[in-house]
Amino acid sequence: MNFPILTPREAASMINHDDNVAFSGFTASGSPKVVTEALAERAEEEHAAGRPFKVNLFTGASTSDRADGILARANAINLRTPYQNMPDLRKRINAHDCHYFDLHLSELSQKFRYGFYGDLDVAIIEVADVDDNGNVVLGTGVGNVPTYVNAAKKVILELNAKLPAAFRGMHDIYLPLDPPNRREIPIYKSSDRIGEALVHIDPKKIVGIVHSDDYDGVKSFSALDDTTLRIGHNVCSFLESEILAGRIPKSFLPIQSGVGNVANAVLYGLGESTVIPAFEMYTEVIQDAVLDLMKKGKCKFGSTCALTISNEAEAELFSNIDFFRDKIALRPAEISNNPEVIRRLGVIAMNTAIEADIFGNVNSTHVTGIRMMNGIGGSGDFTRNGYLSIFSCPSITKGGQISNIVPMVSHVDHTEHSVDIIITDQGVADLRGKDPVQRANEIIDKAAHPMFRELLRDYLKLGRPGQTPHRLECALEFHNEFNRSGDMRNVDWARFK
Ligand code: COA
Repeated sequence: MNFPILTPREAASMINHDDNVAFSGFTASGSPKVVTEALAERAEEEHAAGRPFKVNLFTGASTSDRADGILARANAINLRTPYQNMPDLRKRINAHDCHYFDLHLSELSQKFRYGFYGDLDVAIIEVADVDDNGNVVLGTGVGNVPTYVNAAKKVILELNAKLPAAFRGMHDIYLPLDPPNRREIPIYKSSDRIGEALVHIDPKKIVGIVHSDDYDGVKSFSALDDTTLRIGHNVCSFLESEILAGRIPKSFLPIQSGVGNVANAVLYGLGESTVIPAFEMYTEVIQDAVLDLMKKGKCKFGSTCALTISNEAEAELFSNIDFFRDKIALRPAEISNNPEVIRRLGVIAMNTAIEADIFGNVNSTHVTGIRMMNGIGGSGDFTRNGYLSIFSCPSITKGGQISNIVPMVSHVDHTEHSVDIIITDQGVADLRGKDPVQRANEIIDKAAHPMFRELLRDYLKLGRPGQTPHRLECALEFHNEFNRSGDMRNVDWARFK
C-alpha cells in the first residue's frame, strides 16, 4: 500500500488546536476508534503544559464513548454538531464547556459544502479497504463522509481489520449537486441504488493509515419492560388498523424507526403481524431486530445510513455478508434522511418524544426545557416529510413524578403541524383533521396517564378564549411544579382561578 502506516499518536500529532475535524460514521457505527483516544491524550498533555487544545468536531450523528466520550472527558471539544448522546459530552454542553448546535442530520453535509462552517482541516475516516488510488470501502456507518473527504485538507484512515473487504457493494454513495444545479434524487423505491460502492479520496490528501481491529461496540438491547411492550403493541395495532381502513396501501409503505427499545418492540411487533406484509425500510439506522426480520423474510430491504448493531450481530452479518449485501443500502445521511425522497416514498415516520403537549407539539431534545439531552437527530427530517408521522413516549416517567403529556411543551422541536399521531402505553391519539381543542381532548383521553387526566382537563378549562386556549401564566406549571417539589402531581390550579 502506498500510504504511510501511522501509530494513533503520530496521527493525532497531525491535528492542531482549533482545527475543524470531521469523523466518519453515524452513531457508534463507522466512527473512528483509535486516533480519538490518542487525540484525547494529546489534549490532556497540552492542557497540563498550560496550552489550549480543543477541536471543532463535525460528525454524521452521535459517535461512541471512544470518540465523543473520551474527548469530552479530556475537554478537547470546542464545538460539536450535529448530534451526540454521550453523558460526559452532554455535561460539557449543558455547562457551556462545549458549544453545540443541534441540526437536522440531512442538512449538515450541504451546509458544510455551502461554506457555512468554514474549512475542514482533517477528516478521520474508518474504512474496510483502501487501494493505492484512494478508493475506499467504508464501514458500518456512512454519515457525511463523501462531503468531508472532498472538503478536508488532510485525511487520516483507520483501517479496521474487523471489517471484511467483502463489505464492498453494500454502500450506495451519491452526492447531489448544490443549488442552483440540484436535480431530483432518483430514488423511487427504497431499494434503488443510485451511486457508487466506493468513496474516492484524493490520494494526495491521505496522510496515513492507522490500523484498528474492533467492532463498533453497540450494546445489545435490554429485555423489554411492560411500558415499552405496550407502546410497541399500540403502534403495531394502529398500523394494522390503518391498512384495514385503506389509509395505508395493503402492500404497506417503507418505515423509518429510531434506535432504542421502543423501536425494537415495534419492529418485533411488525414481524409478528399477519396483517402487515413483508416491508421495506427507508431509515437512518438499522438495528439487530431488522437483521432478524430479514432472515425471516419479513423485511425485504433496508435503506439506511448505519448498521447500529451489536457486536454479535456485526460478527454474524460479516460471516453472512452475501445474504445481506443485496438487502441493505448504506447511504450518506443527506440521502438516507432526504426530505424529497422521504416524501416521495411515503415513509411512515416513527420517533420518540421526551414530552408532548395537549395541542400536539413535541419536545425531543430538552429536559424541562433547559438541559440538552441528545439532539433532534433525524427525527425532523422524517417527521416533517413522512406519509404519517408518529411520536411515541411513555405516558409517565420516574414512577409518575413526570407526566410526558403536559399543557405546553417546555421546548419545541416538532410542531403541531407535523405531528399526526401520539402513542403512549395508554393508547393512540389520532390528531389528523382535528382543531386544537379536539386534539387536546384526544390526547388527554387516549395518551395521558389516568393520574394526570383531570389536571390536564382542568388546565384546558382555565384557558383564555381563543383557538388554542392556553393560559400563559400557568402554561408551564407542570414543569414549575416539578422544579419546586419534584412531582408534577402536586400541581394546584386553584391559585390561578
Ligand atoms: N422530563 C424529564 N425527564 C425525562 C422526561 C421528561 N418528560 N422524559 C424522559 N426523561 C428522562 C428519563 O427519565 C431518562 O432519564 P435517565 O437517563 O436519568 O433514566 C431520560 O430522560 C431518557 O428517557 P428514556 O425514556 O430512556 O428515553 P429514550 O432513551 O427512549 O430516548 C429521546 C428518548 C427523546 C431522548 C431520544 O429518542 C432522542 O434523543 N430522540 C431525538 C433524536 C431522534 O429522534 N432521532 C431519530 C431516530 S434515531
